[in-house]
Amino acid sequence: MSAVADTSVYTKDNPFPARITENRVLNGPGSAKETRHFVVSIAGSGLTYKAGDSLGVYPTNRPGEVDEIIAALGATGDELVTPVRAPNPLPLRSALAAGLDLDGPTRKFVELVAAKVTEEKQRAELQTLLAPEAKERLEAFLYERSFVDFLVEYPSAKFAPQEFTGLLRRLMPRLYSIASSPRVHPQEIHLTVAAVRYRTNNRDRVGVCSTYLSDRVTVQADPVPVFVSHSHFGPPEDPTKDCIMIGPGTGIAPFRAFVQDRVAAGASGRNWVFFGDQHRADDFLYGDEWLDYAGKGQVARLDLAWSRDQAHKIYVQDKMKESAAEIWRWLQGGAYFYVCGDAKRMAKDVDLALHEIVAQQGGMDTAAAADYVKQLKKEKRYQRDVY
Ligand SMILES: Cc1cc2nc3c(=O)[nH]c(=O)nc-3n(C[C@H](O)[C@H](O)[C@H](O)COP(=O)(O)OP(=O)(O)OC[C@H]3O[C@@H](n4cnc5c(N)ncnc54)[C@H](O)[C@@H]3O)c2cc1C
Ligand SMILES: NC(=O)c1ccc[n+]([C@@H]2O[C@H](COP(=O)([O-])OP(=O)(O)OC[C@H]3O[C@@H](n4cnc5c(N)ncnc54)[C@H](OP(=O)(O)O)[C@@H]3O)[C@@H](O)[C@H]2O)c1
Repeated sequence: MSAVADTSVYTKDNPFPARITENRVLNGPGSAKETRHFVVSIAGSGLTYKAGDSLGVYPTNRPGEVDEIIAALGATGDELVTPVRAPNPLPLRSALAAGLDLDGPTRKFVELVAAKVTEEKQRAELQTLLAPEAKERLEAFLYERSFVDFLVEYPSAKFAPQEFTGLLRRLMPRLYSIASSPRVHPQEIHLTVAAVRYRTNNRDRVGVCSTYLSDRVTVQADPVPVFVSHSHFGPPEDPTKDCIMIGPGTGIAPFRAFVQDRVAAGASGRNWVFFGDQHRADDFLYGDEWLDYAGKGQVARLDLAWSRDQAHKIYVQDKMKESAAEIWRWLQGGAYFYVCGDAKRMAKDVDLALHEIVAQQGGMDTAAAADYVKQLKKEKRYQRDVY
């Protein structure tokens, strides 16, 4: 891992207008998923990065959703508004397109709609939802809706453009784990992005940034505002150390960077990659690259968990448990243990599996195994980048 001084003028507050030079789907035609590989050119920016860093991306909202909100407000889009922290007034359409988060209505917003709505039945419905005992029902109701749903479902609740935009939060940049090494691609940053598409409350919805990149940015043409988010997450400084990397789904992204980096640097430490996704035939992200590394011994072990290729689920932690003794030998030999991907379920289950392996293989009770894992963290030998 090389420490490089960041001398670029481009930062989170002054993002670089980068061009995307490649946008391709990594999944096969039979997949239920849409995971894309992006190449972002940082040529001329002075930006530097290391394996383990993330790229921040400032997206814009879907024009269709912006049009729908303007129509529901009974506005033209040309009305001048001054949203949160905006230094100057700007047209409603521009404010809604970039800079404001159209998702995440809160209880406060429901209270406002309930106060404004003139339809008696609708007001009563909303007031029932706002009752203290309906907390969970209100949460479920909000989970299924964004701001546009309220404007369309409760048309008698009128909002002036300034009042409405004043209720919206700022649209925040999204972070993506960098999937390339600067040793191999100093002028490019690669990303592995899952396009978020789902349906709630009878509406098709999309994740703002993942579909901004996937659908709305024209390759080689549109500027995409980006910044590098430097991280403590990264391969060992000492190239002789072994690495165990657990990265199912998009969690594989930083480990593509780690392995590229270690191979390019001629690191002598061994690489052990655990990857998993639904089906081997369609969801083996960067499969050719992994098989090539494994064939050359640059990845010493490659363990794959296909969750839906058989009747019962097989996950990365199941593959870890199958190789418990070997994981223990690597850890006792000073290996680093990394996890990236889903925080809610996967990272918790992998953490549990690690504790179990340590307890079983090290002959420890629960408390001693927890101390061992704590010590790994203290030595920066157990690192996670989960979201
Ligand atoms: C350090 C870090 C690294 C990351 N690396 C990567 C990476 O390498 N690749 C990657 O793809 N992502 C990565 N992410 C996640 C990424 O930042 C975004 O959160 C992700 O792309 C979604 O953003 P979005 O703007 O597309 O969706 P948003 O507009 O933010 O929408 C997402 C929200 O939609 C809702 N939602 C999603 N699905 C459903 C559903 N089925 N039903 C109901 N509601 C739903 C949920 O409320 C969810 O929070 C990373 C995050 C962090 C913090
Ligand atoms: N916090 C977030 O917002 C967040 C985090 C991660 C992913 N996602 C979203 O999920 C979608 C796909 O993400 P992704 O491609 O990165 O993959 P993913 O959904 O995390 O799935 C990758 C693999 O992990 C498996 N898996 C599910 N539960 C697991 C568990 N408890 N332990 C171990 N493995 C488990 C999945 O199996 P099965 O699906 O067959 O069970 C699949 O084989 C995207 O829309 C993405 O945005 C959101």
